[in-house]
Amino acid sequence: MKESILVIGAKGQIGSELVEELRRQNGESNVIATDIKMPSPEFLSSGPFYQLDVLDFPQVLEIIRKHNVKQVYLLAALLSATAEQKIKSAWRLNMEGLLGTLELAREEKFKLFWPSSIAVFGPNTPRENTPQFTVTEPSTVYGISKLAGERWCEYYFQKFNVDVRSLRYPGLIGYKTEPGGGTTDYAVHIFHEAIRSHKYESFLSEHTELPMMYMHDALKATIGIMNADAKQVKIRSSYNVAAMSFTPAQLADEIRKHIPDFKITYKPDVRQQYADSWPKSIDDSCARTDWKWHAEYDLCRMTEDMLVHIQAMVQHH
Ligand code: SER
Repeated sequence: MKESILVIGAKGQIGSELVEELRRQNGESNVIATDIKMPSPEFLSSGPFYQLDVLDFPQVLEIIRKHNVKQVYLLAALLSATAEQKIKSAWRLNMEGLLGTLELAREEKFKLFWPSSIAVFGPNTPRENTPQFTVTEPSTVYGISKLAGERWCEYYFQKFNVDVRSLRYPGLIGYKTEPGGGTTDYAVHIFHEAIRSHKYESFLSEHTELPMMYMHDALKATIGIMNADAKQVKIRSSYNVAAMSFTPAQLADEIRKHIPDFKITYKPDVRQQYADSWPKSIDDSCARTDWKWHAEYDLCRMTEDMLVHIQAMVQHH
């Protein structure tokens, strides 16, 4: 029987783009998409889909067996800002979702991808060029769940030989699907507003520098670590990956090179606190050495690509 790939949380910011790319690389029918929400008719016609709650493990298992799933990307999660609002359901989804899937991976022997985040770091972490191995004392619910998840991943690898692979994503920027409930979301919203109204009110302050990555590179890193030889994946908690770092002011300057009258104002909200506890830049030398990772998009190239694509989407609709 043909082997297939399962993406859980396929309608989210990463999932919707990952499914498209995996289907391009592996054939439409070999990539099974699932989400708790029903997708658009367009998405439904693009390949196999199941409406699924990741915490319904018997159903997950049924799909895995039915489709001979050999790789799972577990992307169902609540992001930082939403998790602070819904502490218990965030912990349940982010943590029980992972633990249950690790158990399934142990029994069914599939390869598992699980995303961690720069949110595992906290106020006591060195903030510039944050090393792979350093202080991790997260101060957000989201960060606590990601750190615990990293420990579980390493545990299941060490004890049960589960082939689990993980990345600490920085803020992710893409034009196809908007993020929801994150602290780094401003770096996506700003492009839509720049094109729509030539102005944007940022919920992070002018000089808040955060590590970011363009979706093209995030997909490259994700599929890259999953396709790497098991021996190359030496770290089984989660790898630092990096591409660029900027502040809202620097991003606005870059956008102004294309939209000269673009205006930004600042009105920091509660998300400022989360951002202030995270690194400004990340040292990803372990990922570079171990499985030959490198990013392709910097601030300039990412900005140009975002604007071109969002402009085209606006004209199309
Ligand atoms: N982008 C995420 C967030 O803002 C961080 O991992 O919540």
